[in-house]
Amino acid sequence: MQHRSFWATTAETAPRFPTLDHSIETETLIIGGGLTGMATAFLLHRAGHSVQLIEADEIGSGDSGQTSGHLSTATDLQYNYLQKSYGQESARLIARGMRNAVDQIKTIAETEGIDCHFAYEPGYLYTRISEQTEELEEEYKAARNAGLDVQLQSSCPLPFEVQQAVRFGNNARFQPLRFINGLAQRLKAEGVPIFTHTRAMEVQRDGDHRVVETDQGHRISAGRVIMATHLPAFAKAEQTALPPSRTYVMAYKVKGEVPQGLFWDMQSPYHYTRNAEYNGQQVLITGGADHRTGTVQDTDACFRELEDYIREHYPVDEMLHRWSGQWYEPTDKLPMIGKSILDERVLVSSGYSGDGLVFGMMGARLITDLLQEEENPLLNVVRPRRMHLKSDYIKNNAEVARHFVKDHLSSYPKDLSSIEPGTGRILQHNGSKYAVYRDEAGELTTLSPTCTHMGCTVRWNQGERTWDCPCHGGQFSAKGEPLRAPVRSPLKPKPLEE
Ligand code: FES
Repeated sequence: MQHRSFWATTAETAPRFPTLDHSIETETLIIGGGLTGMATAFLLHRAGHSVQLIEADEIGSGDSGQTSGHLSTATDLQYNYLQKSYGQESARLIARGMRNAVDQIKTIAETEGIDCHFAYEPGYLYTRISEQTEELEEEYKAARNAGLDVQLQSSCPLPFEVQQAVRFGNNARFQPLRFINGLAQRLKAEGVPIFTHTRAMEVQRDGDHRVVETDQGHRISAGRVIMATHLPAFAKAEQTALPPSRTYVMAYKVKGEVPQGLFWDMQSPYHYTRNAEYNGQQVLITGGADHRTGTVQDTDACFRELEDYIREHYPVDEMLHRWSGQWYEPTDKLPMIGKSILDERVLVSSGYSGDGLVFGMMGARLITDLLQEEENPLLNVVRPRRMHLKSDYIKNNAEVARHFVKDHLSSYPKDLSSIEPGTGRILQHNGSKYAVYRDEAGELTTLSPTCTHMGCTVRWNQGERTWDCPCHGGQFSAKGEPLRAPVRSPLKPKPLEE
């Protein structure tokens, strides 16, 4: 089945932009045309900064459009954890930053006339397991102490019984791609230069400028560079602290009523659910089955698992769409927003865990405040240079190193006949590894499985028909073209010897 998100199908066509065909100079260059990049461009432009933006593919083609469109203040990180690990004030600052981000999306949509189906909805964190109620009560207290509008309840509007739920007021849902496309239209109308199909290949220092080389061989000289590429493409120190995971989402027509609100259970991995409308009809969107990138090859099984869960819990009819996305959870859990660890002229906004849309908007606000030299104490909490990362670096580096060792010791099948049409596999032949894909017509593509970022061995992702890298989440098409940062170069062709 071809995967296409509900958002990609129900958004109006994104505005068209040219590909960069000459060298340019700018005060601020933004790399990435998802929610973070477009919102940052919008806020900076409105604050009077000169910005230009490049996107490797089309506007909104990355993970912003692969989410479930939740705008939640019930962070994945959990307030109880935040309070214990970073103190009450940090938890309050994050709660306020998330709440402001939800409200700011609404304000922008309203003032700019962007029809992105924004609607405030309550959010419910719930459990059906009595042993989890104590943990849920702790989360309730921590969220309340963080200043959020929360209530502890013995029920919530789901079509099944729950043990307990925390209701978060003023959460919201929207259509993320309609919002991003709306921003793109405003920026285009106001003359902000945006270039699509323009991939950044390298960032180099040149005194107090940074020079970005594009895949077409042009140079962009910028006073500063903002990495809005989900994983910061050129900030290696940050990449090391951002292990990637994948999540799966499905949209269904419903028989009867769709529960009104946003819902998250406390399972591990957890499930998340919301409603939407399509052609005057109610739609149920549910996600889950998360796993660390590269650890599951038959990712179609994740969709089957999710479908079983949905059909068991909700009165659904026909499935409309299914899609999957990637998320990065920093080793110390906090998002990373601000000046990058190794270069203060490179800014990053990343590490959003499962709260990408809210943290994306929050990142845009924080980076704008930083460049405006506005005091914002939240910047201190989420700055990439925070010291907490040190020990976590070591832990995650060990995990990445484990992939290298495991890759070298693993034994892979040798038999080409084990590869069905439409599938891929790593094969071993004469002591060497090959990434082999057989297309539906039976034609083979044989590639080196060595990731062109830092040399991990890629893994086949059957659901997406891609080669995924477990180390930093880079992704290649079945034929080896780079799809997702930090990879920029294709997998090398590697002919199989007879
Ligand atoms: S080694 Fe970093 S994405 Fe592959």
